[in-house]
Amino acid sequence: MTTPHPAPRELTVALLGGGTVGSQVARLLHESADDLAARVGAPLRLVGVGVRDAARPRDGIPADLLTDDLEALAARGADVVVEVLGGIEPARSLILAAMAAGSSVVTANKALLAEDGATLFAAAEEHGVDLYYEASVAGAIPLLRPLRDSLAGDKVRRVLGIVNGTTNFILSAMDEQGADYADVLAEAQALGYAEADPTADVEGYDAAAKAAILASLAFHTRVTGDDVHREGISTVSAQDVAAARDMGFVIKLLAVAELSDDEKGVVVRVHPTMVPRTHPLAGVRGAFNAVFVEADAAGQVMFYGRGAGGAPTASAVLGDIVAVSRHRLSGSLGPGESTYAHLDALPVGDAVTRYYVNLEVADKPGVLAAVAQCFADHGVSIQTVRQDGHGDEARLVVRTHRAHDSALAATIEQLRSHDAVRSVVGVMRVEGEEGS
Ligand code: NAP
Ligand code: HSE
Repeated sequence: MTTPHPAPRELTVALLGGGTVGSQVARLLHESADDLAARVGAPLRLVGVGVRDAARPRDGIPADLLTDDLEALAARGADVVVEVLGGIEPARSLILAAMAAGSSVVTANKALLAEDGATLFAAAEEHGVDLYYEASVAGAIPLLRPLRDSLAGDKVRRVLGIVNGTTNFILSAMDEQGADYADVLAEAQALGYAEADPTADVEGYDAAAKAAILASLAFHTRVTGDDVHREGISTVSAQDVAAARDMGFVIKLLAVAELSDDEKGVVVRVHPTMVPRTHPLAGVRGAFNAVFVEADAAGQVMFYGRGAGGAPTASAVLGDIVAVSRHRLSGSLGPGESTYAHLDALPVGDAVTRYYVNLEVADKPGVLAAVAQCFADHGVSIQTVRQDGHGDEARLVVRTHRAHDSALAATIEQLRSHDAVRSVVGVMRVEGEEGS
């Protein structure tokens, strides 16, 4: 006679945050309860939802689950604590309290991971619990676990993509409507894509945090938000977008993380970038995200989908809840932080890419040669030049071959102080051309 298996115990889930993402996590935990129980092997029971204002009713969250005592909820020893508050504090202290109480943690908090992931990973290891964070980068898109698990046997050389939905929405609308940045930002705020204070998105902080997380996983090294060169989109004008369009390009805010040629360092950067309209990233419109990973054996792999929004992000959170819940039942743990490569975070000057330079110059003999000499002085090779004259002035649009960012910066400095150059109208990096 066989002994029946004991009925699987129930697993408890504490939710810190009941906003855009948290309310959708609560909804899915409730609506998909039977399927989740079957997939995990035990029922998941939501034991509390921590918010600032527990008296305010929330759609889909029973009032008796709401609490403003987040310390007690985090430290009560639930099997899984889900942090979807955002920001650095109290999120960090609450996660640490949860781990100290033996809970595994799922978080969507890219800002905290990029600023102080080391403390969280160390605490997870110390307390023997999981720390999962798929939702922190690119919303619904399964990206972090493919990097951490599926590509763990390969050597990643480059990660490049669109990881911020708000800025992609704005840049797409500027491209499609020829509209100004300020007008489109207002529209993005009215539609709920951009927040009332859009700084984190439009100035590239959100993308830089995600780039740091991607680089850490891709290159098995620790990269923080401070290691990332960051430029936002607030200075991109309707004229820049039109000039890019004229040349067959579209402007995207790209996050790029690259292994150096000697494999001893990484350069991680976020900046507006000109991308050929024929490149797959050019077709990523609105609030969607897309990321290319280039690895030695795999070649190029592309990930695409909804990078923001309550339900898409909750999908990634639920996937993590299922994963860590299975570990709780089997008494196992997922992999921790992998930083064995100890690579140097290199300055953006070490990046190698192509450039577009738009100059207003005096239209007189020798100017073109003088401008070309400035590029030559710094070893920057010109790919194409287009000149349009008007009166005694001419517009020169120069596109370069691949060059070091530091060499291009020195070229621009020299051009700015050159007598023949009336103004440097625009400079932008170019990615995604054949051979780059
Ligand atoms: P949100 O809508 O602002 O919700 C935040 C929730 O946390 C609210 O319920 C709020 O309570 C609660 N909260 C915040 N600070 C608190 C505090 N000090 N004490 C008690 N409760 C506090 O934010 P969200 O958009 O859901 O984002 C949550 C996290 O997910 C962030 O880390 C964000 O970066 C990440 N994320 C968001 C998205 C997205 O598309 N929204 C996508 C990917 C990742 P009240 O409701 O009472 O104010
Ligand atoms: N503000 C972020 C974006 C949310 O626009 O992409 C997703 O992380």
